[in-house]
Amino acid sequence: MFRMTQFMKSLAEDTPLGPARKPPGPVVIWNLVRRCNLTCKHCYSISADKDFPGELTTEQVFTTMDDLKQFKVPVLILSGGEPLLRPDIFDISHRAKEMGFYVGLSTNGTLITEDNIKQIAEVGYDYVGISIDGMEKTHDMFRRREGAFKESMHGIDLCKENGIKVGLRFTLTQDTVHELPDILNLMDERDIDKFYLSHLNYAGRGNKNRKDDVFHKMTRTAMDLLFDVCWDHIQRGNEREFVTGNNDADGIYMMLWAKKNIPEIFEGKESELITRLENWGGNASGVNISNIDNLGNVHPDTFWWDYNLGNVKERKFSEIWQDTSDPLMAGFKQEQRPLKGRCAECEHKAICGGNTRVRAYQLTGDPWEEDPACYLSDEEIGVESSDRRVENRPYDGRLKDIKISRA
Ligand SMILES: C[S@@+](CC[C@H](N)C(=O)[O-])C[C@H]1O[C@@H](n2cnc3c(N)ncnc32)[C@H](O)[C@@H]1O
Ligand code: SF4
Repeated sequence: MFRMTQFMKSLAEDTPLGPARKPPGPVVIWNLVRRCNLTCKHCYSISADKDFPGELTTEQVFTTMDDLKQFKVPVLILSGGEPLLRPDIFDISHRAKEMGFYVGLSTNGTLITEDNIKQIAEVGYDYVGISIDGMEKTHDMFRRREGAFKESMHGIDLCKENGIKVGLRFTLTQDTVHELPDILNLMDERDIDKFYLSHLNYAGRGNKNRKDDVFHKMTRTAMDLLFDVCWDHIQRGNEREFVTGNNDADGIYMMLWAKKNIPEIFEGKESELITRLENWGGNASGVNISNIDNLGNVHPDTFWWDYNLGNVKERKFSEIWQDTSDPLMAGFKQEQRPLKGRCAECEHKAICGGNTRVRAYQLTGDPWEEDPACYLSDEEIGVESSDRRVENRPYDGRLKDIKISRA
């Protein structure tokens, strides 16, 4: 995850330069249930409104939580499917809070109602993230249910009314990109605490529909807008937080944005900013980010469900996670990941960490090939122009002109 606001604030203010990122254990994103009341077009868990046999029992979840605590896991993000469809979700959530985890709830928001909002508030979630992938028509089309937008927005309103820190999560695809300005306006209108832009990852239905991923130029236009808006908020002293996920080139592109748009500030802070970005180090799959699926299988992150590292019913998470006999995990944990293609040659790879490996894997069968969704030009990454680029969406491709400036 790229914490845009934090990095931009370090340009606007004098913030002390902390040490490199070395959290004690990984963040665990835990898909507690695969059933879902929606069937979104991009869904990595290929969720649907049916039972998936063999899911972890409450007892098995609790036993795993004990191991995670001992292993010094700091954060649990309770996800799904739709986590609110798991009958014991509040028991699990209360226990997680009592054990001292930072606990996030990742939900589509449609099932947050007057009937359960008090129960949700009583848990004391540190953060509730609700997915909104466009304005009403686009969201309902993308999430494949009429009325979903209204229900999710109602869920957001209820969270805010009950003092819960709530964020909006938006996935960037050709279906949604044109609505980014409206969504950012909506953030302001509803005074929503946090905005998370999620680049499309090639997993599950998101892989099947990867032809709908944005062209590189669209990503650049979207990111330019987001940097402008984030910087504007910082200048006005607003507390709203902007983060992005699934494309660590965002860190490098932010540096280039600063060089171009605020040159007088950038000049004095260039080397400090580079150190900060390198301390972050980009992609954290298999290191600081982990995933347990509904059946108890452990994966390097949520987008690697085709790749099992072991199962918590048979072996402790802490053991599975530290086992580098698995070649993919060994590669992830190397100081220098064994990257290939333009990622190997990139002069900024210490910042992005080689970006998102699952996209390379889905396109080429090789997890260490270059990430096809890196939207930086050859010049920007200091490589000779190459004609063998792994491409899902070319830099200058057949691009419908999109207007995504803000009103
Ligand atoms: C799998 S969902 C589970 C929680 C809940 N059902 C929801 O939709 O918010 C978790 C998050 O992953 C995002 N997501 C799902 N598939 C994705 C993909 N292929 N690429 C990027 N983000 C994806 C969703 O938009 C959502 O914000
Ligand atoms: S993205 Fe979330 S809401 Fe959509 S189908 Fe998947 S689990 Fe359900």
